[in-house]
Amino acid sequence: MIDNATKEKILEAAEIVDVVSDFVTLKKAGANFKGLCPFHDERTPSFMVSPSKNYCKCFGCGKGGNPVSFIMEHEQLSYPDALRYLARKYGIPVQERELTPEEKAAETERDSMFILNEWALKWFQEQMYETQDGRAVGLAYFRQRGFRDDIVRKFQLGFCPKGKDTMTKAALKAGYREQFLVATGLSVKRDDGTLYDRYWGRVIFPWHTVGGKVVGFGGRVLDVATKGVAVKYQNSPESSIYSKRKELYGLFQAKQAINKHDLVYMVEGYTDVISMHQCGIENVVANSGTALTKEQIHLLHRFTNNITLIYDGDEAGIHAAQRGTDMLLAAGMNVRILLLPDGDDPDSFARKHQAVEFREYVQQHQVDFLHFKTELLLEKAQGDPHKLSELINDIVASISVIPDEITRTIYVTQTAQTMRMDENLIKRAVSRQISKIREEEHKRRVGKMQDSEGVNASDTATLPAEDSRQEVKVEPKQAVAAVSDSDAATNGIEMLLAQLIVRYGERKVCEVEDENGEKRQLSVVEFIFHSLVQDGLALRNANASLIMDEAIRHINDNGFIAEQYFLNHENPGLSQLASRLSLDREQLSVYHGKDTIHDEERLMDTTSHILADLKLSIVRRDIKSVMKQMKDSSISKEQRVQVLIKFKELKEAEARLAKEAGDRVL
Ligand code: CTP
Ligand code: MN
Repeated sequence: MIDNATKEKILEAAEIVDVVSDFVTLKKAGANFKGLCPFHDERTPSFMVSPSKNYCKCFGCGKGGNPVSFIMEHEQLSYPDALRYLARKYGIPVQERELTPEEKAAETERDSMFILNEWALKWFQEQMYETQDGRAVGLAYFRQRGFRDDIVRKFQLGFCPKGKDTMTKAALKAGYREQFLVATGLSVKRDDGTLYDRYWGRVIFPWHTVGGKVVGFGGRVLDVATKGVAVKYQNSPESSIYSKRKELYGLFQAKQAINKHDLVYMVEGYTDVISMHQCGIENVVANSGTALTKEQIHLLHRFTNNITLIYDGDEAGIHAAQRGTDMLLAAGMNVRILLLPDGDDPDSFARKHQAVEFREYVQQHQVDFLHFKTELLLEKAQGDPHKLSELINDIVASISVIPDEITRTIYVTQTAQTMRMDENLIKRAVSRQISKIREEEHKRRVGKMQDSEGVNASDTATLPAEDSRQEVKVEPKQAVAAVSDSDAATNGIEMLLAQLIVRYGERKVCEVEDENGEKRQLSVVEFIFHSLVQDGLALRNANASLIMDEAIRHINDNGFIAEQYFLNHENPGLSQLASRLSLDREQLSVYHGKDTIHDEERLMDTTSHILADLKLSIVRRDIKSVMKQMKDSSISKEQRVQVLIKFKELKEAEARLAKEAGDRVL
């Protein structure tokens, strides 16, 4: 427990810019700072930090707060633990009183696991520095590998003794519970119920979160013991605090340098990271020899847009270099690659060279990834036309995932030059590939909407009661909210439109001329409304239609802002629905790939895209019902002709709309 005086000291010391900077690269923006939001994936910064208010907030996802709430959210800490974190950061001593057994029991599992890991971290280090065996075996191992003592300390490396349960016994004796020893993976339970140390006889590499909390460990066998031991590294098992796919080894120690150089080096293993630090290259992380994951890319993307992958120059290294790179390109990152001489990893290379030489080698040998790939494959193909066309497809696939059009264009030109090919040929191939990707995305989207029928059913359930609906003067026809099976997709898209209206309804997206030839700006909701009216369509979902009508009625009110209007709506059913629509970004972001739309072109694009999807789903619904009619044997010949004509019309409309829905994003 932390007493009030200390708490106040901590609150006084904690400065928001300082606190947030540990996790986010901030750039000055007027009196404030801004950066990429750490709470959601985005490409343009919407996370604002105000030093004067000592407050931060994301305009995309709404998360943020004062220094304590930021740390609570970001590091997933309880209030007292967030205070402790800040106290440590600002060197404020905290007098803790001993927890009562009840309080101890009340700690959440995750907290307990972190506390235990923190204890283990210290214990492994004590063992290494303060026991005979630790010094003679553990520390000696690191020294003999050439790791300097300061670097060994910096990474908080340690040692777990040979006795098979020395650590487990020490932890139990210190009052830590078996449950958490097993949950963190520090101890392993045998079939007979006894525990042994997962890392016995190994040197220890702790894994930190970006914020420095210890989430897991890797233990390496010692060379002398390697004989007969199959697994070189034992790593923490997946748990509620450790997921291999979400962490990057060394990020905690690297983040400031990544920030400073606006570049991150990606290597394979623990020792590579450490050796590079020793060389003075500190902006380096490792992903433990596996393919990069989306989560890891997201994590890095908060610090930099530039990544250089470092690999062995051998076949395996070159092969590894190709995994996961399309994901990096798709995230909009600039990817470079650096091959080390055959057979070397960064660790061994660093040991053979002076720091200066290493840095020089890096500078001189890193090349653009796509260029590297083209040349490599070109060499491999050796003029074989089959292989060449495979190569083109491969490169085209990589270029196509790049989100930025200009970057894509540059790559098309470059590839054409490298391959001595007609640029237009490659350009067209890229366009085709992008269409294909969009089409697949479209299919997924519609599938997703059909899946979300349950969500829409509950939207209907929160509809304002009949009498309160009178208050907002809704036409009775809109009370029909029955959702049939075939309507599920349509219904989902209608709720997306409603979401768009709630979040951006008043924003101007396009200009039209009225009957008198006067230009007028149309807002999102007006655009939707006119577009539907033009096609003789009406929204069927009662909630969606209610929201559109309300917005249309008030769009010309002075200072009308849809989100505020709906969130503060006197009808509680409606304001609740609005707050759900405003918070749940998931579905809308399927359309525009990020949480908040800033520019109007994008907004217009998304709106017309959703409208096209809606019309498409309506047409498809009608096609289904026409097909039913065609199977009906009781209709007359004349009726059948009518049905066929209708069918043909609908199919044509479908083709046109599908193209519109698919093309729009290009
Ligand atoms: N790795 C792992 N488990 C294994 C083998 C490897 O987690 N059984 C991960 C580790 O993060 C390791 C990385 O993959 O650092 C690369 O593996 P490797 O090249 O075999 O190890 P090095 O890092 O080179 O380790 P050392 O130099 O100590 O042999
Ligand atoms: Mn190695």
